[in-house]
Amino acid sequence: MNRARIRGIDHFGLTIRSLHQATHDLRNALGAEVCYIEGPITEREPGWMAAKLGARGNCSLSVAAMNVRGTNLELFEYDGAERRSWDTPPGAAGSFFLIFQTPNPDRVIARLYNENATVRPIEHPINGYDVALPSGIHLAIQHRPAQRLIGAVALSRYDFATAQRELTSTLGFSKHEAITAFGATGYLFASDHGLPVAVLHGQSPSPRPANSDLGGHHVAFHADDVDKAVTSFRKTGGYVPLGEPETITDGPIAGDRWVYLNSPFGLQLEIINMPDGTLPYEKDAVALRTPIAIGAFS
Ligand SMILES: [Fe+2]
Repeated sequence: MNRARIRGIDHFGLTIRSLHQATHDLRNALGAEVCYIEGPITEREPGWMAAKLGARGNCSLSVAAMNVRGTNLELFEYDGAERRSWDTPPGAAGSFFLIFQTPNPDRVIARLYNENATVRPIEHPINGYDVALPSGIHLAIQHRPAQRLIGAVALSRYDFATAQRELTSTLGFSKHEAITAFGATGYLFASDHGLPVAVLHGQSPSPRPANSDLGGHHVAFHADDVDKAVTSFRKTGGYVPLGEPETITDGPIAGDRWVYLNSPFGLQLEIINMPDGTLPYEKDAVALRTPIAIGAFS
């Protein structure tokens, strides 16, 4: 067990413009499926979303959890949040996007069926396409022999150096091959369980989006014991929990224990224990989340 007592990455969270558009696009382009939809979740008390999620102002939140070719993706649509006046472009520090490696990039483009998507052919360093979907999702499609979907975060120079150090020490990840997408270069990191993540050096410094901004994102790590993990992070230093862990008592994922955590490398993290196999949504679901027990490259 690593110092932080986490097992691996459970899911990526991303704030988009429209759940309806985003689920439609991901279903068409990547064959993604919706596991559950929740919300709108309202403020439990004024300022709760800001204190616990890092949102701007009082707002409500709707969530769609999707299984995108084995990757758990949590899509957030906020209503009523104060918005900053610019968006972080993909590849800039502070951005999150998906990389889809496939032997047939053209097939993905042919399946988009979205006249409002922006598709840019890419030749270097890997053939493929950079795709911007109107919902706010950015997708780098890369020609590779094996098919794989990867969540990617781009960080500033200093955060990039710290993230690599923290991932391979505190979080117990190992460093794998070099990855380039949207002009940002870095490495793939994976642990024995859960999802891999591409950590890239963003081309330009850019203030990070808040959780409620378009492009706001978090990386959620599974802990067998969330409270013990939070204590370990506190001892490590540089990690600041947003309040205390709490357990969801009703709705599709009742039993989920979670807390958000600011990290010393700028990225917003979540520590989560989602008890797959016992969650209420599973009874009627078309698709299930990928449980943490499945390894990054299995
Ligand atoms: Fe999450």
